[in-house]
Amino acid sequence: MQTSAAAPTPAQIAHAFLPDRWHYHYARSKLASDPLYAGVLGALDGAAMPVLDLGCGIGLVAHYAQAHGRALDYRGVDNDAGKIAQAQAGAARVGLAGARFEVMDLARAFPAHRGSVLLLDVLQFLPAAAQAATLERIAACLGPGARLVMRTGLRDGSWRAGVTRAADLASHAIRWMRSAPGSLPTRRGLEARLGELGLEARFTPLWGRTPFNNWLVVAERR
Ligand SMILES: C[S@@+](CC[C@H](N)C(=O)[O-])C[C@H]1O[C@@H](n2cnc3c(N)ncnc32)[C@H](O)[C@@H]1O
Repeated sequence: MQTSAAAPTPAQIAHAFLPDRWHYHYARSKLASDPLYAGVLGALDGAAMPVLDLGCGIGLVAHYAQAHGRALDYRGVDNDAGKIAQAQAGAARVGLAGARFEVMDLARAFPAHRGSVLLLDVLQFLPAAAQAATLERIAACLGPGARLVMRTGLRDGSWRAGVTRAADLASHAIRWMRSAPGSLPTRRGLEARLGELGLEARFTPLWGRTPFNNWLVVAERR
């Protein structure tokens, strides 16, 4: 008879952040409610490694991947030193193989990288000039087989877009996000920009049971 290990629960994965109860509960509820991490892991299937996670927060992608038997060769950067400290502590607690984290402000710098790139719920928090520069730098990272896996809200006049914008403003107001959100991109504008950079993109809704207008955008070199 074949047996298979039970999938790890959000609570089990979030254990990495204890004894910090705030980050434990944040990680647990985010993993339980948001289809992002399963979606990203699926989108990385067969993609060239290593992975650079821009605006990685506390590194939930790396935890989710390892807990599901897909430890990533992974580097995460974020401009919030507190989140990076939590990411490093969480990674050390569970022995996150192959993950590195560092503080970096994408409005001023971009890491040297060749491989796949994650940009998850980050674009709208970069100033307009940094958004354009970051997309350009990302495109230069993508060799054959590498993918950009991005999630972003889209500005399309829907009620979901309004909720997404309000939540971004609220997360800045409570200081969970240090940067104030700019406006969300439109699908047509983002598609055109990625096309100018030589990338072909697929757009798929990825909001699950959340009220947000979140889309998964997976792009590769044409
Ligand atoms: C909504 S959170 C998403 C976190 C993570 N990508 C995830 O999906 O679990 C957005 C992240 O972008 C980071 N961020 C915002 N502006 C940034 C900047 N200029 N440079 C680097 N990171 C930034 C924030 O600190 C935050 O961790």
